[in-house]
Amino acid sequence: MIDQVTIPVQQVAKSRITEVDFNNVQFGKSFADHMFVVNYANGQWQNPQIVPYGNLSLSPALSSLHYGQALFEGLKAYKNEAGEILVFRPDANAQRLNASAQRLCMPELPEELFLNGLFQLLSIDRDWIPTKPGYSLYIRPVMFATDDYIGVKPSDTYTFLIFTSPVGAYYSKPVRVKVETHYTRAAPGGMGFAKAAGNYAASLYPAQLALQQGYDQLLWTDGREHKYFEESGTMNVVFVINGKIITPSTSDSILKGITRDSILQLARDWDVKVEERPVSVEEVITALKNGTLEEAFGVGTAATIAPIAVIAHEGTEYTLPEVAARKLSNRLKHTLDDIKIGNAPDPHKWVFKV
Ligand code: COI
Repeated sequence: MIDQVTIPVQQVAKSRITEVDFNNVQFGKSFADHMFVVNYANGQWQNPQIVPYGNLSLSPALSSLHYGQALFEGLKAYKNEAGEILVFRPDANAQRLNASAQRLCMPELPEELFLNGLFQLLSIDRDWIPTKPGYSLYIRPVMFATDDYIGVKPSDTYTFLIFTSPVGAYYSKPVRVKVETHYTRAAPGGMGFAKAAGNYAASLYPAQLALQQGYDQLLWTDGREHKYFEESGTMNVVFVINGKIITPSTSDSILKGITRDSILQLARDWDVKVEERPVSVEEVITALKNGTLEEAFGVGTAATIAPIAVIAHEGTEYTLPEVAARKLSNRLKHTLDDIKIGNAPDPHKWVFKV
């Protein structure tokens, strides 16, 4: 349990909740009434508050706009049958936020402050947590540099915010992905492992080209040789070949996904063989050709478990087995969904009750 220091709250005059159709929410388009804000100056985080969700007033010289000292996180909250608020692995997000902060020369945020602010925000906006199966309240923590100074140096001041958004599925159907062998998302020694805003900026142009060719996402390959899989744009990637889970080992150019970690743990609990190691494009294409690739899917907070329907490589499209026949990913998805809403045992203590 965390130390519940009460954070001052400024309530909205009128909730916007009736403007949202909770049976049909699109990812990332509506935002709950309040947000948690804390600012960093003079070497410390100060004045945490919960205020109405709304626009910020920013200097044109805001250093994060110019030099990209900005990072974010993503996690989700649910309600159990008793109406209690459950959050999936928020401690892991707080820790990953700080790993990203360190790489971007930004100050770490105490984990208790992250959890305290988040839990009080969720209590206040509890009515925004969808209860429809497959829906959740997506939580978006974000930290950015706020010095109004255009010299290149780490900022002395920062803002950290958490706001939330009721969401449904990120991908509404199995995804078609293209193996990217020209552009690079992240290079060895770079910041690909961090949830840095700039990593997503680097991915947009190649992803847009792929979209124009009819693909939902890219499968990124390593920046050195384009021979080994890294991750997909919004998720880590997992293959099932000959009954074994095979996934790229995380590195300084691959995000350490919390959903990735959770599904690998579940698979190990079930005595499924898991290999975290370099996965070559050649190995996967060979398995596609000889029929030993049984399943492929992306894993991420927003995407949850997103089945891959088609993999395109150098102009050839390979169609994967139908989703209904994919025993392992379907079992992983259902088990994880049940743990998150409190309908299955939680042996790893992933779920925090607010
Ligand atoms: C998440 O899954 O939470 C992410 O951060 C992916 C996002 C870019 C939609």
